[in-house]
Amino acid sequence: MPILLETRELTAQFGGLQVLDYVNISVEEGTVTGLIGPNGAGKTTVFNVICGFVKPEKGTVIFQDEILRHTKPHHLTQMGISRTLQGVGLFPSLTSLENVMLGATNSVKTGIIADSIAAPWVDAHDEKIRQRALAAMNDLGVADVAPKKPPELPYPVQKRVALARALVSDPKLLMLDEPAGGVGADDIADLARLIRSWTPQRTVLLVEHHMELVMEVCDFIWVLDAGRVIAGGTPNEVRNDPAVLAAYLGEDAVH
Ligand SMILES: Nc1ncnc2c1ncn2[C@@H]1O[C@H](COP(=O)(O)OP(=O)(O)OP(=O)(O)O)[C@@H](O)[C@H]1O
Ligand SMILES: [Mg+2]
Repeated sequence: MPILLETRELTAQFGGLQVLDYVNISVEEGTVTGLIGPNGAGKTTVFNVICGFVKPEKGTVIFQDEILRHTKPHHLTQMGISRTLQGVGLFPSLTSLENVMLGATNSVKTGIIADSIAAPWVDAHDEKIRQRALAAMNDLGVADVAPKKPPELPYPVQKRVALARALVSDPKLLMLDEPAGGVGADDIADLARLIRSWTPQRTVLLVEHHMELVMEVCDFIWVLDAGRVIAGGTPNEVRNDPAVLAAYLGEDAVH
């Protein structure tokens, strides 16, 4: 399968701290590719660079054979990339449905402004988006909470709403930052099934600490430690890699 996404020599610093150090990873189309590593390894920063939230000092991101030169988050949706945020990242004063609808729209009028004014911004034009959002929520088993606001919902339900928001734009590449964080065993089992069901039509880049999930769903795994790629391979290769085991010493075991 062709490579859908690639980072080349990504280098980033925060206040003198080298957070990414020549990070080269690639994601083959139609796969679930994991990006794992201990806390602070730089996983979320890789996501942020890919999405244009963090500007690297050096390096490029290639998506579908072209260098990504986006500046605004809505460009990502247009290009077929969507992500979930570590945690939940839903707008608390919008309903779940409105939050999911935001994932479908390319409009710059939405986002923080929509949240701060909580305006009746859903017009006739949005009826199609509304239906798509409801369908995405239905797929995630959360259509019943459409009128509720995120703070009224249990955390695992909020996570599903956030997933629906990422899916509603029908992305080619779905980037998930710790989708299993803070959810229970049943939800994790559901998540594993869901993630596998999205491929090969979609490609998934998965950041996750929950090793059972990672090992079960990933076709390929990149391992970051202190801003550097220390390993890349199949789940079995990575699981038995001495450098990976050493990086995780003092953390939860990778087995
Ligand atoms: N905006 C920022 N300003 C300063 N330092 C930051 C910023 N964002 C991240 N860092 C630092 O960069 C390093 C990498 O952080 P990052 O969030 O990418 O790690 P991570 O692998 O996602 O970790 P975790 O598994 O805990 O989510 C950490 O040392 C973190 O403290
Ligand atoms: Mg992170």
